[in-house]
Amino acid sequence: MITETIPEIVNEKLKQARVIGAFTGAGISAESNVPTFRGDEGLWTKFKPEELANFNAFMKNPELVWEWYSARKKIIHEAQPNPGHLALAELEELVDEVIIVTQNIDNLHRRAGSSRVHELHGNIERNYCIKCGETYTDDAILSGTLPPKCRKCDGLVRPDVVWFGEYLPQDEFTAGEEAAERSDVFFSLGTSAIVYPAASIPQIAKRAGAFLIEINPETTPLSDIADVTILGKTGTILPEIVKSLRSIKKEGTNN
Ligand code: OAD
Repeated sequence: MITETIPEIVNEKLKQARVIGAFTGAGISAESNVPTFRGDEGLWTKFKPEELANFNAFMKNPELVWEWYSARKKIIHEAQPNPGHLALAELEELVDEVIIVTQNIDNLHRRAGSSRVHELHGNIERNYCIKCGETYTDDAILSGTLPPKCRKCDGLVRPDVVWFGEYLPQDEFTAGEEAAERSDVFFSLGTSAIVYPAASIPQIAKRAGAFLIEINPETTPLSDIADVTILGKTGTILPEIVKSLRSIKKEGTNN
């Protein structure tokens, strides 16, 4: 079902759910002014991923790659969680388990208060040395000259994000698959759902029997298999869903 309003079945399924999973993409942070990748204003229309987001590009021109990442770090550092992130965090008060599986590197789910977050593409607030693996906070490296060098071995330090052609962190991906398999209701939120292997996660949830709800202003390849696609912004729809669930649960305890 593709709809612009929240159908009653969403409330019914959420009321019964013990485990809720949510797969998120750049769209959930769009209302925090973090640019998405695709679409008219998307990052990949202005920058070429092959020049910025891969290991060979980094080795060839670490200054350029760091210039781009330090600008993105600044945008993300200044961004605040929006009502969509906050609604997901609030959901934890109403359901036994809420597990977030995100493609985002912006750390906004944790900053909003979500306690179980699996990051499939890394975290832009972390950095590590490509030679010895020593980790660095942004504060430790951004004040010096770029590209930053490891204080232990003089190796190049890189952001802890997954670049094109790199493997996803295995433990995070496995945790994402497990969340998908265990969820009674699974959300796909603000993602174009085309970048694999991450995009297989909501499909796993659906195959394992979860009720699959997509929220996005546009349809995606996932809309074909979603039980419900709500055409709208996560910052508007998610707070409405959580508000209804809260009042349903309250009614239940009053009866
Ligand atoms: P995309 O930029 O591909 O897609 C963003 C999606 O968010 C689109 O489907 C938009 O319609 C939707 N959207 C925009 N505003 C929204 C809003 N307010 N509420 C809800 N949805 C909204 O971003 P991702 O799907 O996250 O990978 O991209 C996946 C991966 O591609 C990223 O993790 C990144 C990129 O290359 C790596 O860097 C490895």
